[in-house]
Amino acid sequence: MLVDDHSSPSDQEKNTTTDQEEQPQQPLVIKKIACIGAGYVGGPTMSVIATKCHDIQVIIYDMNQQRIDAWNSAELPIFEPGLEEIVMERRGKNLHFTTDYQQVVDSDVIFLSVNTPTKYYGVGKGRAADLKYVESCARQLRDTIKSGRKIIVEKSTVPTRTSIAVKRILESGESKARFDILSNPEFLAEGTAISDLQNPDRVLIGGEDEESIRALSSVYERWVPKERVITTNLWSSELSKLVANCMLAQRISSMNAISALCEKTGADIQQVSFAVGKDTRIGSKFLQASVGFGGSCFQKDILNLVYLADHYNLPEVAKYFYGIIEINNFQRERFAKKVIHKLFNTVSGKKICVLGFAFKKDTSDTRETSSIFVCKSLLEERAKIHIYDPKVTKKQIMYDMKSIMNDCYDGDFSAKMESSRESELVESNIFVSTDPYEAMSDAHAILVLTEWDEFKQYDYKRVFEGMKKPAYLFDGRNILNRKDLETIGFDVYQIGKQESHMADW
Ligand SMILES: NC(=O)c1ccc[n+]([C@@H]2O[C@H](COP(=O)([O-])OP(=O)(O)OC[C@H]3O[C@@H](n4cnc5c(N)ncnc54)[C@H](O)[C@@H]3O)[C@@H](O)[C@H]2O)c1
Repeated sequence: MLVDDHSSPSDQEKNTTTDQEEQPQQPLVIKKIACIGAGYVGGPTMSVIATKCHDIQVIIYDMNQQRIDAWNSAELPIFEPGLEEIVMERRGKNLHFTTDYQQVVDSDVIFLSVNTPTKYYGVGKGRAADLKYVESCARQLRDTIKSGRKIIVEKSTVPTRTSIAVKRILESGESKARFDILSNPEFLAEGTAISDLQNPDRVLIGGEDEESIRALSSVYERWVPKERVITTNLWSSELSKLVANCMLAQRISSMNAISALCEKTGADIQQVSFAVGKDTRIGSKFLQASVGFGGSCFQKDILNLVYLADHYNLPEVAKYFYGIIEINNFQRERFAKKVIHKLFNTVSGKKICVLGFAFKKDTSDTRETSSIFVCKSLLEERAKIHIYDPKVTKKQIMYDMKSIMNDCYDGDFSAKMESSRESELVESNIFVSTDPYEAMSDAHAILVLTEWDEFKQYDYKRVFEGMKKPAYLFDGRNILNRKDLETIGFDVYQIGKQESHMADW
């Protein structure tokens, strides 16, 4: 955490220089919005604002030239359904991707949408959010904006009270500018980002300054019904984002925990999920058991909350939420162990086909994907792993696997990674196919690790004929028709379902 300060934002304001009080009040007219960070959040969020507000110039700035070049090319740096269409429609009109910082300086509203990964060093290692990118943004803004009035919007997911740190930094220099800080966390889900942004359940704006809150609300109210734009104080807004992700992940971990019980008792996780989800107090979403959740946010944000609870000396609270991650790890390990066990306790030298490497369907994002962890376990057992994913590149897969095998998945990637024994292990045992049938051909087992729709369409009769026998299929997403597969001759394992003839060797 950047600060440990218990005064309120209003108290903080009282302590700041009188320079701002001397500033003449200017009416807030938003003509230009900038976003620092052209990632999975900054890119889609700003593109949607640009499509909804043609009269506002929208600037997406990033320090990564390669990323900006990709945003300005025909091949966007991220895959998200519907994104390409809106970028192509507004780019060059009121949507601009740039590395020119002056464009940020000239904007009325500046979103901070930089990454806030889990710290992998020093105090809070493995739990606290690393706020170095947020902090460096604040310092750069302070040093470059000398006058005027700016609304600074925290879009990144941050620990509660980060806004105080941002405000302190902004007001610590010579600048005569007035900065108002708002918290506006993003609730989009990758894979459905554009529709989530176009039709959000709610937009949350936390802040102190009514006029700034109104100004930002009025941007969203161009397309979001007024009653869905919620305003709170800064800290409720910051904390709500963490709590929302914890509760979503908690639902998945609850079902994953129950899936293990189902396999022992003969209950069926999908039937349980359906029956439980029918209760309107519970609802049906996020109740699907799987090989484990992934993505850049859930684990990071849970750890963030756990760290926050520990920091405020609430170990019971920390332990309670940490259990969500423990169940997720348990589920991944359980799945990998099941594969090894079923393949007669050895996968050494055996061709295993992995279908899906992205952490969920309809995204190319692999951050924290369960596939990485399952592949790691199998690689440690010396399996020959052939991976197919419709959207993830070979380069990304090899990079992720080398990172995890070199134990620097969350950290700095040194040159050592290229030459290490672990990297050689990856090079000689991980193969990436662009053709799913090639990946499945001659395999001992198929593992479905992402729920891509196309996996349901394959000709599994053809696949079965080309496989080693007995032919195993481990459906880590419960998306395939088990009866059909068993009729063809597969030995099928699905999460949270009783095993049939596969039960014994
Ligand atoms: N990915 C999601 O689904 C999601 C959803 C909701 C919220 N969030 C939160 O939004 C934030 C951003 O996430 P993301 O997935 O877009 O991250 P990302 O890693 O895809 O993008 C962050 C971008 O910020 C840039 N950056 C970092 N520091 C910078 C600086 N000082 N100046 C200019 N550019 C800088 C990086 O180069 C990178 O391109 C995180 O806090 C995350 O927790 C993410």
